[in-house]
Amino acid sequence: MKKIILNDSYLVDKPEYEKYEEQIKKIAEGMENKKNEPDEYLGWLDLPTDYDKEEFARIKILGEKIYKEADAVVVVGIGGSYLGARSAIEALTFVDKNAPEIYFLGVNVNASYLQNILEKLKGKNVYVNVISKSGTTLEPALSFRLVVELLKKDGKNLQEKIIVTTDESKGALKELAEREEYETFTVPDNIGGRYSVLTAVGLLPMAMMGINIDEIISGAQAGQKEYSKSLEDNDCYKYAINRHYFYEQGKKIEILASYNPFLGQLAGWWKQLFGESEGKEGQGIFPVSVDYTTDLHSLGQYIQEGERHLLETVLSIENKNKEIIVPNSESNLDGLNYLAGQKFSDIESKIQEAVIKAHTEGGVPNLVINVPEVSAYYLGQLYYFFEKACAISAYLAGVNPFNQPGVEAYKKEMAKLLSELR
Ligand code: PA5
Repeated sequence: MKKIILNDSYLVDKPEYEKYEEQIKKIAEGMENKKNEPDEYLGWLDLPTDYDKEEFARIKILGEKIYKEADAVVVVGIGGSYLGARSAIEALTFVDKNAPEIYFLGVNVNASYLQNILEKLKGKNVYVNVISKSGTTLEPALSFRLVVELLKKDGKNLQEKIIVTTDESKGALKELAEREEYETFTVPDNIGGRYSVLTAVGLLPMAMMGINIDEIISGAQAGQKEYSKSLEDNDCYKYAINRHYFYEQGKKIEILASYNPFLGQLAGWWKQLFGESEGKEGQGIFPVSVDYTTDLHSLGQYIQEGERHLLETVLSIENKNKEIIVPNSESNLDGLNYLAGQKFSDIESKIQEAVIKAHTEGGVPNLVINVPEVSAYYLGQLYYFFEKACAISAYLAGVNPFNQPGVEAYKKEMAKLLSELR
């Protein structure tokens, strides 16, 4: 099996990153030593091999049933409680003609968005997976009320149609699930929202949409093994060190670039992971993403010549899975007949090579992550790669990757203003 590789040619010189060897070793050992302490939120470290097998089997059975029966799946959740699932669903299910329709609620409080989706769901065979660790997050809680109302109006059996993913023992949603006897799955105590993609939080919606979650897990297992090696053979550590190195050189913004538009939501998941984990105590790389070639025509100018505070990480997909050939044009008015008969995948690779060269020469260091193909297996590996790289990066910067004190600030202000609506 091929593996995800960080392309060596773009890394900082070996002596530069070898300076971090001792520090990385200490961080990795520290995580290993503390991984069983419940308050350390390190449960994701061994999760690919050490997970609840009974729950996993239940996810598969229920997922398969819903995939076959549902007209539409509704995932109600926000942040870490939906981004991972969405990233896999968008990357893998677009071509599946048998997959149910998928809708994400609980991601805003916009009346048009909500109303339009509720309209679409009316009268359909809808299954709802409501996901919230706390059970009290405003957006999903309000959306969930709307979906319950819709299901009731449609005369549906709520116990069959609603599946809850929440804390094992506490919280409003847990209490509701018990009271209403909804089928329930668990967000493990020692895994925070943004690290929960490989738990029921991510896996159940994926399974409901027909994604092979065994493959997701075996990819993650390969990642767990691969990214526990020592620095010399560990691309995950090298990625963390390189981005930290460039940050110290003034590269304050990291752009995650992909040429496959179906990876847009993976970038969304990545942005939350790094943004919430690293961005605190007045520091941290600001994570943004671009969709190429589209954004070469919007952000390309800035990336090439704007303020030199950018670092770019390219997700380079080796096997594009599909092939299309450029047709010949009789008139050749666009002058592109020299490409007639060529594969689109080859054209994409050449553009990617050219852009990396131009951006690097323009003062934007590029890190290139080679992914053999977009599949459940490699997504699983990539989730683990980024999760571990993110934790290491945050520790290198001296911040705790697993808290989010800043999120509370706006919530406090919001609560004050919302109470004025009473
Ligand atoms: O990563 C996190 O902790 C957050 O993004 C949460 O996942 C998000 O705020 C949703 O929280 P909850 O699952 O409690 O509804």
